[in-house]
Amino acid sequence: MEYAAIVIVISLKMTRAVPCIGPEMSSCDCSGILANCEYRGLTEIPGNIPAGISRFIEAGAFNDLLSLELIDLRFNIISSLPAGLFLRNVNLKSVYLNQNQLRTVSANIFNARTSISFLVISENPLRCCTMLDFLEWTTLQTELKTPDATFIGFCLDFNTYTAIDKFNSSNCPIQVDGQWGSWSNTSCSVTCGDGIGYRNRSCDSPSPSNNGQQCVGSGMETSTCMLENCSVDGQWGSWSNMSCSVTCGDGIGYRIRICDNPRPSQTGQACVGSGMESAGCSLGECQEPCKESENKTGKHI
Ligand SMILES: *[C@@H]1O[C@H](CO)[C@@H](O)[C@H](O)[C@H]1NC(C)=O
Ligand SMILES: *[C@@H]1O[C@H](CO)[C@@H](O)[C@H](O)[C@H]1NC(C)=O
Ligand SMILES: *[C@@H]1O[C@H](CO)[C@@H](O)[C@H](O)[C@H]1NC(C)=O
Ligand SMILES: *[C@@H]1O[C@H](CO)[C@@H](O)[C@H](O)[C@H]1NC(C)=O
Ligand SMILES: *[C@@H]1O[C@H](CO)[C@@H](O)[C@H](O)[C@H]1NC(C)=O
Ligand SMILES: *[C@@H]1O[C@H](CO)[C@@H](O)[C@H](O)[C@H]1NC(C)=O
Repeated sequence: MEYAAIVIVISLKMTRAVPCIGPEMSSCDCSGILANCEYRGLTEIPGNIPAGISRFIEAGAFNDLLSLELIDLRFNIISSLPAGLFLRNVNLKSVYLNQNQLRTVSANIFNARTSISFLVISENPLRCCTMLDFLEWTTLQTELKTPDATFIGFCLDFNTYTAIDKFNSSNCPIQVDGQWGSWSNTSCSVTCGDGIGYRNRSCDSPSPSNNGQQCVGSGMETSTCMLENCSVDGQWGSWSNMSCSVTCGDGIGYRIRICDNPRPSQTGQACVGSGMESAGCSLGECQEPCKESENKTGKHI
């Protein structure tokens, strides 16, 4: 009977075991309720990962561990935690984050979680003034305030180590979120015809300061711009054939050309020179009666 009970417990544990997500998280030991990631050389995401170290904690790494109650991330080199890290771990109670390189912790890793009753983030280079949202979050944690709860963390601000839960943030520099200035006027890439217009704005009204948020969105916008058609200078078409004023004897020949190849438009220049040219033409002796000559081609003298 006892033996059977043990077998049931073991098989329950086996079926509840869920792999930790992501190729790097596979180095953690995960079960349904426990994720043990201590001493795994875990760093951060995104960016600033020291050369030779490639183990990130990805947002959503623990998403499949819906019944996770304890996460142990001690003794790593984690310097930042992605937002939403524990988004789906609604049963999370205990979090070990001590002995890492965290400079700040944001409430957004826990979202609206209020189940935490054990949180240790000591031995990290924390600055409380950069984690005011987290301080705010701790004040809402009913479980974390019970006598049996554990909350240990210190931060260094104003050259003084202070327990996070005793920190008085009223002397912290005020965090200012950036706001966009107004758009510049649109300028067009061309001075006539179709082009690309762009306008820009700066995140300077005000600029973010003291860890405030950057402006959201783009500082530049492109569009198409259509200005007046470009001016075109006129060019002559080709000369017509010379025609002669007479069919025999001496006459006057002329030829013409038109300024339409292309026509000048807008403020474009007209064609330079004459559109007509004349010259004497001689079609040979007239015979009596002067019949229609078979040779109408004029000769330019
Ligand atoms: C926090 O600091 C401010 C300014 O130094 C002070 O006026 C206030 O009384 C302090 N609050 C607590 C709870 O100590
Ligand atoms: C933008 O255009 C308007 C109207 O043409 C002009 O009054 C204003 O000075 C321009 N602004 C800038 C920043 O060039
Ligand atoms: C827009 O960009 C131009 C060129 O990069 C720059 O000179 C100008 O100051 C910018 N204007 C704004 C409002 O950012
Ligand atoms: C500009 O050029 C296009 C194409 O050649 C023509 O259809 C249009 O009428 C012109 N617009 C003006 C204002 O001249
Ligand atoms: C000009 O003369 C040539 C040769 O006689 C002829 O082939 C051509 O069609 C003529 N062009 C015009 C515009 O009459
Ligand atoms: C046509 O006239 C030209 C020039 O006068 C001349 O050289 C040519 O021989 C004449 N052709 C004929 C068929 O009469």
